[in-house]
Amino acid sequence: MTIDISPPVPLSEESRPITTETCVLNNGMHIPIAGHGSMEKGWGVDPTETARVVTGLSQAIRQGLRLIDTAKVYANEELVGRAVRESDVPREEITIVTKLWNADHHRVQEAFEESLGRLMLDCNSTREKLSLTLSFGDTDVDIYIMHWPCALAESEDGLNGIPIPIDAQPTFLETYSAMEKLIGPRCRAIGVSNFTQSTLTTLLAQCNVIPVINEIEIHPLFPQTNLVPWCQEQGISILAWGPLAGGPASNYGQTFREIYTNPTLRSLGKKYFPNYDPNQAVGAVLLSWLYTRGIVAIPHSTSIERILENLRCLTRLTAEDVLVLNGIHGELGGYKMLIEGSEEVLWYEDGPGGRGRTLFGWTTSEIGWVDEKGEVVV
Ligand SMILES: NC(=O)c1ccc[n+]([C@@H]2O[C@H](COP(=O)([O-])OP(=O)(O)OC[C@H]3O[C@@H](n4cnc5c(N)ncnc54)[C@H](OP(=O)(O)O)[C@@H]3O)[C@@H](O)[C@H]2O)c1
Repeated sequence: MTIDISPPVPLSEESRPITTETCVLNNGMHIPIAGHGSMEKGWGVDPTETARVVTGLSQAIRQGLRLIDTAKVYANEELVGRAVRESDVPREEITIVTKLWNADHHRVQEAFEESLGRLMLDCNSTREKLSLTLSFGDTDVDIYIMHWPCALAESEDGLNGIPIPIDAQPTFLETYSAMEKLIGPRCRAIGVSNFTQSTLTTLLAQCNVIPVINEIEIHPLFPQTNLVPWCQEQGISILAWGPLAGGPASNYGQTFREIYTNPTLRSLGKKYFPNYDPNQAVGAVLLSWLYTRGIVAIPHSTSIERILENLRCLTRLTAEDVLVLNGIHGELGGYKMLIEGSEEVLWYEDGPGGRGRTLFGWTTSEIGWVDEKGEVVV
């Protein structure tokens, strides 16, 4: 993750204040309606860039960023923890979301402790220096999320184990049950990610604690117009990943980049954000569409100014314009980044039990991404 720490340049004459609106979760917690996704393209952070990342993120926090999404697999929890502390903004004002990786489903408690260790690294040294019982705040992690329902077997690197089929242990029900035991002073809430109506239906029939959040891919090519209202009816709030479809230079593929040159989206950009440059205007429309639908977005940016502008731009779209965005996949095509995109690293050609090509050992129908006819459920 590289963060551009050049002095902020005002992008628009109509600059609004950073939103302080919140989304209320099913356990009563309030979280910001928008934040920052910290995953760098290709995962991991180049060691030469860590200082810039921490400085950039802590500056963004000082200027109003209050929600950060991280994960073990992004290899940046330690940097996020440092940025939070260096910002000097009270910990309780910031919402930190981190995630249980697939290769840790059989060791939930240990993986959670390891995440705490990475988030708290500097805090421990501060503790020693001051001989005080400091903590990362009232709690260590605000929301701990199961990154995928799919598990991988234990592996040496803790990241790339052999895929475990949907019906083998640990099942996602067993993993979630272990996560329920984490809720307490060190973990305010638990959630899931990349769950579909099919996997959530199974989970809701068995769990004791309804997940506060389902973190899912949403953008105009994959609007999730079925899953979002369904989750909201169950009391599960939605956090959108990939909300900008990877941006105008998306590495998810050409189809995603075409969102930024689509005439309908360009004209909506001009209508709502006449003073933005065309790409930025389309991005702001995409984020405002999610905001209008009550979805919490976590766009990524390497620029402090864009991180902040993405929190300032949020505007309610008209009901007609929401419908236009909901339906534009009919013109551009319905695509999931992880089906059509470039994340080949997640796919296994020889899935368990003769399943063929699978994502972490599950077929797209086992995950719930395609219906019985094999059509992608958008
Ligand atoms: N749970 C999961 O399985 C999962 C999977 C993937 C991602 N995520 C989370 O979701 C976050 C966001 O997803 P993502 O990083 O894949 O993609 P994204 O947020 O859709 O796109 C990020 C790209 O958009 C550009 N951008 C930022 N602001 C813009 C604006 N206002 N207008 C136009 N372009 C803009 C950025 O470029 P610049 O850097 O140049 O600004 C960046 O390259 C991740 O960081 C991660 O936290 C979760």
